[in-house]
Amino acid sequence: MRAGILGFAAIALFSVLESCGAVPLRRGNFTTNEPIYSLDDVDNKYDYIIVGGGTAGLTVADRLTEDESKSVLVVEFGDIVDDDPELKMPQKGNPFPTQYMFNISSVPQTALNSRVGTVQISAIAGGGSAINAMFHDRGSVADYDAWVELGNDGWGWNDLLPYFKKAVEFTPPDAFMQEEFGITYNEESAYGGHGPVDVSYPPFQWEGLKTQWDAWGDLGIEAQVEGADGTAYGRIWVPSSQDPVNETRVDAVLAHYKRVAEVRPNYNLLLLHKVTKVELNGGGNKARGVTVESRESGETKMIEAQKEVIMAAGAIHTPQILQLSGIGPSSVLEAAGIDVVVDHPGVGQNFHNHPWFVTVFNYTTNFYPNPDTLTSNETFAAEAYEEYWANKTGPYSLGLGNAGVFLPLSDVTGDYQLIAADYADQAPSDYLATDTPPEVVAGYAAQQAILATLFASDEAAVLEMPLAGGSTSVTPNLKPTSRGSVAINPADPSAEPLVDYRAWTNPTDARVMVEMLKRVREYHAVPAMVEAFHPVELVPGPDVATDDEIEQVMRTQLLDPDFFHPVGTAAMMPLENGGVVGTDLLVYGVRGLSVVDASVIPMIPGTHMAETVYAIAEKVSSVCPLRACIRRFR
Ligand SMILES: Cc1cc2nc3c(=O)[nH]c(=O)nc-3n(C[C@H](O)[C@H](O)[C@H](O)COP(=O)(O)OP(=O)(O)OC[C@H]3O[C@@H](n4cnc5c(N)ncnc54)[C@H](O)[C@@H]3O)c2cc1C
Ligand SMILES: *[C@@H]1O[C@H](CO)[C@@H](O)[C@H](O)[C@H]1NC(C)=O
Ligand SMILES: *[C@@H]1O[C@H](CO)[C@@H](O)[C@H](O)[C@H]1NC(C)=O
Ligand SMILES: *[C@@H]1O[C@H](CO)[C@@H](O)[C@H](O)[C@H]1NC(C)=O
Ligand SMILES: *[C@@H]1O[C@H](CO)[C@@H](O)[C@H](O)[C@H]1NC(C)=O
Ligand SMILES: *[C@@H]1O[C@H](CO)[C@@H](O)[C@H](O)[C@H]1NC(C)=O
Ligand SMILES: *[C@@H]1O[C@H](CO)[C@@H](O)[C@H](O)[C@H]1NC(C)=O
Repeated sequence: MRAGILGFAAIALFSVLESCGAVPLRRGNFTTNEPIYSLDDVDNKYDYIIVGGGTAGLTVADRLTEDESKSVLVVEFGDIVDDDPELKMPQKGNPFPTQYMFNISSVPQTALNSRVGTVQISAIAGGGSAINAMFHDRGSVADYDAWVELGNDGWGWNDLLPYFKKAVEFTPPDAFMQEEFGITYNEESAYGGHGPVDVSYPPFQWEGLKTQWDAWGDLGIEAQVEGADGTAYGRIWVPSSQDPVNETRVDAVLAHYKRVAEVRPNYNLLLLHKVTKVELNGGGNKARGVTVESRESGETKMIEAQKEVIMAAGAIHTPQILQLSGIGPSSVLEAAGIDVVVDHPGVGQNFHNHPWFVTVFNYTTNFYPNPDTLTSNETFAAEAYEEYWANKTGPYSLGLGNAGVFLPLSDVTGDYQLIAADYADQAPSDYLATDTPPEVVAGYAAQQAILATLFASDEAAVLEMPLAGGSTSVTPNLKPTSRGSVAINPADPSAEPLVDYRAWTNPTDARVMVEMLKRVREYHAVPAMVEAFHPVELVPGPDVATDDEIEQVMRTQLLDPDFFHPVGTAAMMPLENGGVVGTDLLVYGVRGLSVVDASVIPMIPGTHMAETVYAIAEKVSSVCPLRACIRRFR
């Protein structure tokens, strides 16, 4: 099997040489293009089948169907939801609406007192972009250049910047917001594209934000003019994925489906259906199509992909579907009784996310109004709600917020060099699962060397704290060192997979996050913060004092492994380092099969993920020979 995967390089070269011919015109069956809900209305074959109509999937579908000769079917588990106003408004009553999510729990986390973690991923058309907090940022230059160092030529900051720009259309903050809140930006260094995803600044911020923003300045943290030009460290302003006129959410459904589908009969979107398997040809080296199951009736159908099956089911389900199809680590497949078609050690490995914790302070004095007023004063909330729908202004036009601190480790603790050195001294396999395949250990070794450098760097963030004026802070660790896995459940392979974050199994994460919590306390002790808010710590509380006590309370209560950013489970890396896809995002060893979602991210950048996922999807669908040539015939 392994020899088969390596022989793939020769096939790839051959395909480049023989490709780029004329393509017969194929169209779907639909003249007015409505979403499809029944297998009866689906053709038997399409050129491309995209598995998952989320952030990445709909972006790639949009770009592929620009060429009307290509027929595309997107199969999406969820529905398009148009009748829930909460999904349109930036300030949702429930920021994490579980009715649009899968309901998955992690396996018990050994380093977290055996607590079970959540796995909060979207189950709605548009994917994460349809329910997320609309915080639309990018990582720093070093975060993406790390991908190149891992063996991915063409995927560094300079390579991605054109696609970050292409993905969005930027509208600057209005003069009042600039003056009143000091919001700055640099359109030239970061934007200038005319992508269908609007990013803009809402017309509202809470007064308390000013104090919080300045307090980090008092601690010596520099403000960037623009955070989206590769300088996502220090204090930065961040736009929202928000329509600048209507102040409503812009997700992948609006930007990459509704905008174009009506005039593209070749763009077919099947909703409320689940892909259960990628079908391979007899030899196992080419994807033929997918098996699709109706969620309502359970009816199934095999649909053929004449050119390519494109995986975009997100970082939890993409590796699950690959494994169910016989593509994955043989030990995982055999345990579940699945025939091994391609022994692919990296599928489902290298799983990570941003672990985070919450701190709660009682602001015993405060500005009026403040974020808590929305929950404590019903009259205020009702008026604000009315104002939003009448005028598209006020508190409900504001999402998670539009500012944050992104601190390199050197701005978190004076011990940063020691932490970096101790981490660099670990043997790569010391804290990985004992059954980690050797290729995956090799890939981790490469990541470890880079992470150690980034810990000592001033230009890559480790601590994030979004700022919006509130008294509750969430603080993710942007450079986790622990790695987990996603594996089909041997007891019931078609059930949700076993998701193991293995959070904090590498002790470096605990060491870093204890320092992070202490830094959060220093911020609340800044004189201007004390004067404005007289903050009293409620969670974890002043009796949690020593490093040991902080570590303990995190393990037993505070640490949450899931900041909604699962990545890495079909990583873009060399095959011998446990990679699943190459820089063309095609799966090693199987022709006509690619992965385009957050699964391919080899090492998580210091940012929320939507913009990075959009850029990856834009890049893979834009570049010839990637799209126009190789993709057509393999
Ligand atoms: C609650 C929440 C808040 C977030 N907040 C932010 C934020 O403020 N800013 C930010 O930048 N990022 C945020 N994110 C993260 C960001 O939205 C995701 O990282 C991003 O959407 C991932 O894109 P993806 O294409 O990899 O997967 P997704 O967008 O999740 O798409 C996967 C799609 O596949 C579908 N699917 C799954 N299994 C199957 C199957 N078997 N068959 C067919 N379809 C299937 C799913 O329904 C989904 O539509 C948040 C995410 C969540 C969940
Ligand atoms: C195609 O369109 C015709 C006419 O609307 C319809 O009868 C048929 O079911 C459609 N689907 C397929 C797969 O042919
Ligand atoms: C998850 O649970 C919620 C109820 O809490 C439900 O509305 C939703 O449909 C479930 N998601 C899936 C994918 O079953
Ligand atoms: C914005 O609102 C106007 C007026 O209600 C509406 O016609 C338009 O479709 C809306 N645009 C978007 C992108 O929702
Ligand atoms: C927060 O502080 C206010 C004002 O001192 C006090 O009335 C309130 O009880 C405190 N709340 C909590 C949860 O401690
Ligand atoms: C609640 O909000 C209303 C409307 O804004 C305001 O008039 C009232 O003073 C508020 N009540 C309190 C206790 O702040
Ligand atoms: C909308 O804005 C107008 C003009 O500023 C104002 O008079 C009106 O009261 C606002 N409506 C609501 C519901 O806030």
